[in-house]
Amino acid sequence: MKFPAWWGLVLNGLVTSTTARISQEHFLAPTYQVGSSPSTPYNEGLFTPVEDLHILSTSEYTSLRHPSLPQYNVRIKQSQFCDGEVQAYTGYIDIEARHLFFYFFESRRDPDKDDVVFWTNGGPGGSSSLGLFMELGPCRVTSANSTKRFEHAWNDHANVFFIDQPVGVGFSYAEYGEQVSSTSEAAKDISAFMVIFFEHFSKFKGRPFHMAGESYGGRYIPVFASAVYDRNAELIEAGLTPINITSVMIGNGCTDFAGVVRSYYDIQCGDYGFPAVTSISDCVRMKQLLPRCQKRFQESCIDVTDKIDCASAWEFCWKAFDSVFLKYNAYDALRPCKGHADMTSCYPIVRDIGDYLTNRTVQSVLGVDPHSNFSLINFELNERFSEDSWSFRAEHYLAALLERRIRALVYVGDTDWICNWVGNERMTLNLEWTGQKEYQSRSLREWYIDGDVAGKTRSFGPLTFATIRDAGHMAPYDQPVRSLELANRWLAGAEF
Ligand SMILES: *[C@@H]1O[C@H](CO)[C@@H](O)[C@H](O)[C@H]1NC(C)=O
Ligand SMILES: *[C@@H]1O[C@H](CO)[C@@H](O)[C@H](O)[C@H]1NC(C)=O
Ligand SMILES: *[C@@H]1O[C@H](CO)[C@@H](O)[C@H](O)[C@H]1NC(C)=O
Ligand SMILES: *[C@@H]1O[C@H](CO)[C@@H](O)[C@H](O)[C@H]1NC(C)=O
Repeated sequence: MKFPAWWGLVLNGLVTSTTARISQEHFLAPTYQVGSSPSTPYNEGLFTPVEDLHILSTSEYTSLRHPSLPQYNVRIKQSQFCDGEVQAYTGYIDIEARHLFFYFFESRRDPDKDDVVFWTNGGPGGSSSLGLFMELGPCRVTSANSTKRFEHAWNDHANVFFIDQPVGVGFSYAEYGEQVSSTSEAAKDISAFMVIFFEHFSKFKGRPFHMAGESYGGRYIPVFASAVYDRNAELIEAGLTPINITSVMIGNGCTDFAGVVRSYYDIQCGDYGFPAVTSISDCVRMKQLLPRCQKRFQESCIDVTDKIDCASAWEFCWKAFDSVFLKYNAYDALRPCKGHADMTSCYPIVRDIGDYLTNRTVQSVLGVDPHSNFSLINFELNERFSEDSWSFRAEHYLAALLERRIRALVYVGDTDWICNWVGNERMTLNLEWTGQKEYQSRSLREWYIDGDVAGKTRSFGPLTFATIRDAGHMAPYDQPVRSLELANRWLAGAEF
């Protein structure tokens, strides 16, 4: 059975190999670790920042280290590709034998003043090259060996990172097969990288920093941003400049799994603007299965995390509601596609991106290590991460960020099924934080671009929910103008 698992959800391995994982050790919810790394006291004399990105070589990597993070090394070079107009950089974050690949594009407006944005795609196992070359990067892949400048890129008003994470995804790799299998492990590497980056390129120090992600990124990002936030305490203690983590941006996220499950019933059987493709008899069946699914999920994934029972609860729930994904494009109700379960047939550009990045000439421009293999979607990692999916409540991280006045934008292309707006809106309403009541009391209203309805929005204090009209799961791909306008208004701190 093939599920539309890959940067939607983690259902793949789960349903097919539940029994295989039953033999594994008892489930332990990973404790959230920050700054567990032994840190050497900061010593001015030991550290010389590189200062200026523009002096970096195009042919060779410059290595960056920081005495407070002895096990990390960052390699970075200029790379002339994609956006002919702004400077582009690529490189690796080396954590001993693990190597995370990244792209960095300066802002088209004012790199010296504009904010810094971090972007990751989801999966788990989806390469952020999808976000770069298909959604919001400065160019789009137009064939197996060509790209074209993209007008509505998010580096319009921001300096933007795209990171292939965790290891095993995209160009990121491990020398001896080391693996990262949970979001909290991945978060440590990301926060360390950001420290090294801001310490070296001092012109970016203190610059507002936004962490953005899509789909399963809706679970990564709250944890990553929390890791950055919590690490700041150590930076301050060491006399370093804290990272100015200002906001998180979650696009078509599947942040809260229990809510996602419930939304699958709503969008198929309720009047939420989705086509009624599911029969009444199936809806009645689902209605009866829904409370059982919720009870089982609550008991074995939320009240306690029992790995075996939780896996079987999730399997039960998925099977109860999956019919729509088997006959429809799971990522878009507006754009039906015969290859419903296969991303590359619904979105041919995905195959071109894979071919483009597999080309050795392109790889050498990017500075890709010769022995690494490009993986557009790592299915094996996707399966491995399935345990991660129940082990933490990403929404609690999001609420905790709001309490610390980190702004959160939860935006959703409104025709996506798999991480749909109904589940996302409910997730925002159910977030437990001091501003919850006020947020709930605000009405959902339309937002406009030049007089046209661009979507709906609700906002209170640091929290904003917004839909993007007529966009599917990869909203910036379907609605580039609306998506960029949304991003720019958010970065500028403007009302929608
Ligand atoms: C790889 O890319 C280069 C430059 O874009 C192109 O000339 C070459 O034909 C490509 N190779 C293949 C096998 O497509
Ligand atoms: C681009 O790639 C296609 C298919 O991979 C190939 O047929 C074509 O010759 C390539 N073009 C160039 C300019 O390399
Ligand atoms: C962080 O960025 C905000 C702008 O969003 C700015 O007002 C503030 O001074 C910055 N904080 C630091 C510590 O640089
Ligand atoms: C890449 O693939 C080759 C051939 O399958 C393999 O020998 C090599 O170990 C792989 N490299 C990494 C880093 O996984």
